[in-house]
Amino acid sequence: MTWWRRAVIYEIYPRSFADGNGDGIGDIRGIIGRLDYLAGTLGVDAIWCGPLYPSPQVDFGYDISDMTDIDPVFGDLADFDELVAAAHARNLRVIIDFVPNHTSDRHPWFVESRSSRDNPKRDWYVWADPKPDGSPPSNWTSEQGGSTWELDEHTGQYYLHSFHRAQPDVNWRNPELRAAMLDVLRFWLDRGVDGFRIDVLHMIAKHPELRDNPVREHPEPNPTDRQHPDYDTQWHVHDRMHPDLHGYIREMRAVLDEYSERTGRERIAIGEIEAMPWDAWVAYLGEELDGVHFTFNFNFIEAGWDAESLRGSIEAQEAALPAGAWPNYVLSNLDRPRLATRNGPDSVRVAAMLLLTLRGTPTLYYGDELGLADIDIPPAQWQDPLGRDQERAPMPWTARDNGGFTGPGVRPWLPVTAEYLSRSVESQLADEGSVLGLYRRLLAVRRASPALVDGDHEPIDTGAAGKHCLAYLRRHPDQTLAVLLNLGPDETTIELPAPGGVVLSSHDPVATTGPGTAVRLRGYEGVIVEIAQ
Ligand code: BGC
Repeated sequence: MTWWRRAVIYEIYPRSFADGNGDGIGDIRGIIGRLDYLAGTLGVDAIWCGPLYPSPQVDFGYDISDMTDIDPVFGDLADFDELVAAAHARNLRVIIDFVPNHTSDRHPWFVESRSSRDNPKRDWYVWADPKPDGSPPSNWTSEQGGSTWELDEHTGQYYLHSFHRAQPDVNWRNPELRAAMLDVLRFWLDRGVDGFRIDVLHMIAKHPELRDNPVREHPEPNPTDRQHPDYDTQWHVHDRMHPDLHGYIREMRAVLDEYSERTGRERIAIGEIEAMPWDAWVAYLGEELDGVHFTFNFNFIEAGWDAESLRGSIEAQEAALPAGAWPNYVLSNLDRPRLATRNGPDSVRVAAMLLLTLRGTPTLYYGDELGLADIDIPPAQWQDPLGRDQERAPMPWTARDNGGFTGPGVRPWLPVTAEYLSRSVESQLADEGSVLGLYRRLLAVRRASPALVDGDHEPIDTGAAGKHCLAYLRRHPDQTLAVLLNLGPDETTIELPAPGGVVLSSHDPVATTGPGTAVRLRGYEGVIVEIAQ
């Protein structure tokens, strides 16, 4: 079984993970210093590191001014090489962000492109004439609010920016631009990375005629996301998801495959695409499974925290995947309110068990293993215009000072709150019953379990307990496990298809012994039961 199908991926938000040079901002040396925690204490298999590239930081690194270097805030290329080597020495794979949809407006490509209409790089970006009345070429709205078009006075044309106006969209229809982007992949593959998380992959091709998007009569803001209200006022059908993008994805995949074959180490592409109908979602895997290896499953985040919705989402993904494809699950990331905030603190333990026992590759967001909730920052103090600072706060390693995130007396870029200090890694390691203790046990059980790593998924009918309970079997020729999850506050009983013994409870550090076929679950409790073969 290939490494990424077995792997648990851990997302690091580099600014907030660990500060190695005492300037209050996390960096690569900080991450290197915490690899033993990741590979050993916690026991994950791969890290996905958010963007480290040189950037004016308008969108905290997603506005890149050089795709083949490291921002001095985070270190330099030598630090990066050391990170890859140190991670590999611990059997940890390294996945980095690749941002193909846009650059910073300070990127030399854009500086050239905007310099004149006949500059050779003009067509590397999406430029269009104003409408006869001088207004923008289409009605498209940006995720950060307002029009996606910005008039460049000097050349009299508009450029497209699906995000902030400092993030112009590149033009993937231009073969030279594509070649330059594929060279970026090669640059990092040569440095040893194991894969890429590809930012907003569904956006890289737009309708070539720049057609207006249909207006949405009744906008329904998505409570699990943080987007500007303007974004929801239309159906985003022409400003993204043009089928041409599948050809571009195949070109990226071919580069990865070439490296995988040449080096004997599989390099992977993970697509970040928004939740969409399942047939459109699986199309990113490619007709011959020659697209991305998997796309982050945002449907699972957006499904709603109740047994019926989660069950529906799991079964829909299982049914939608073509033969040979592999599921994945994610419950939090850098752009969404944290799981503990979205679903309440009582959901944290049972969510850990859900995420780590489903068939497929799970991705954890840093700090979720401590049960962290969003921090409370008044909008006037947001550094990110969309308020995503709330889920990006510094990791509390110890219970004192700045939580060991940065030196004592240094001002961290976002506050380390008292609540975070009380949930530090240090204090939770001293308490087996902590959320971190549960994550460690779950990861160890998962790693040693053929059923959890590779077993089939089979729903269990939870009968009368159905409303609040989610239950499934993971079947492997060598082992069958039942996972029983009570999402509600009341005690309940679930009948197993055959007797078994409890392997792990979300509530007790030491599992109780065999329950027979009727398993009693406390409120918000999850258990894993090994069924007698
Ligand atoms: C990243 C965001 C970023 C956006 C534009 C994403 O989905 O995760 O943080 O603002 O892409 O690059």
